[in-house]
Amino acid sequence: MREIDHTRVTSVVDEERLIADSLLVKRHLDRAVPPGVPSARERAAYRGAIMELLERRNAMIVAHYYVDADLQELAEETGGFVGDSLEMARFGRDCDADVLLVAGVRFMGETAKILSPDKTVLMPTLEATCSLDLACPIDEFSRFCDAHPEHTVVVYANTSAAVKARADWVVTSSIAVDLVDHLAAEGEKILWAPDRHLGAYIERVTGAEMLLWDAACIVHEEFKARGLRDLVRVYPEAAVLAHPESPAGVLELADFVGSTTQIIRAAREFPNRQFIVATDQGIFHKLQMEAPGKEFIVAPTAGNGAECRSCASCPWMGMNSLQQLHDSLETGGNEVHVDFQLGRQAMVPLQRMLDFAANRRP
Ligand code: 13P
Ligand code: SF4
Repeated sequence: MREIDHTRVTSVVDEERLIADSLLVKRHLDRAVPPGVPSARERAAYRGAIMELLERRNAMIVAHYYVDADLQELAEETGGFVGDSLEMARFGRDCDADVLLVAGVRFMGETAKILSPDKTVLMPTLEATCSLDLACPIDEFSRFCDAHPEHTVVVYANTSAAVKARADWVVTSSIAVDLVDHLAAEGEKILWAPDRHLGAYIERVTGAEMLLWDAACIVHEEFKARGLRDLVRVYPEAAVLAHPESPAGVLELADFVGSTTQIIRAAREFPNRQFIVATDQGIFHKLQMEAPGKEFIVAPTAGNGAECRSCASCPWMGMNSLQQLHDSLETGGNEVHVDFQLGRQAMVPLQRMLDFAANRRP
């Protein structure tokens, strides 16, 4: 039911499924309460206490670019790490901390635990999920795979441990095109899940034939090609940088498409002084640090009004706060657990991803 029907005929069951998915996402969004803004004094107090706890517990913060700038700064100041999801996985596995504090969303914490079963993995909140993960439940996904046994199953890292365990390969956006290119050259047929925009983008770039699961990121899906075309007219000198979870019309207008780290690198290396950026606004903190003096403009979304809960800002990434990070470290609460057997199974495609990434061309 989830295969994208290229004739664009949507069955009643498809629609029911999509409505069920939206309700599920909405229910989770309703729980995604953004943390209150702490005063300067509170922030300083949390920072001091967190630094002490990190030292005492031999812990490190591994953060994604979309989380609050305070958390990103603290991660880097204390010898931790800020990066895209592939780099976070790698850093968590390679560092010699006893405790990893993953500031991001659930699948990132699970990946860290799978790759480092002996480390304690904590998160500021376990409520922070991802619309792609939510829209790819294991039972349905398994049926989809069973119906296409001749396909190689490639899943995006934004999935549960159970979905990863069912896959042949896991990829992140930074290596998805390279990996599918490689598999297609070996003559493999690909089943891809869950992000339909990223899947369709990989298909266009590689020419590989792929069966696509039908889910989307609620943040990137909001970027609109029409508004972007208008904005490009207002800033004709600006280069457009887009994350591949964005819809096809947006990606067609982009001068560069890549993972969050690749977007930051492009902003540094492109000669342009202005950039229109189609990804979560959390990345602007790092963009401004890495490319000082350049101007970054948020790509237009469907609704910039008070109603919009995911316009260029992931509500789940936004749930990570200094206070929760502190509390989790102090109490050992919000620990990520992955069933041991499931973790071992999920480790196989994750390890393939890491080996492939280590050997690919720069
Ligand atoms: P990156 O791997 O590019 O950081 O993407 C993760 C993500 O969730 C983007 O929405
Ligand atoms: Fe998931 Fe989108 Fe949030 Fe990334 S931005 S974690 S893909 S919901």
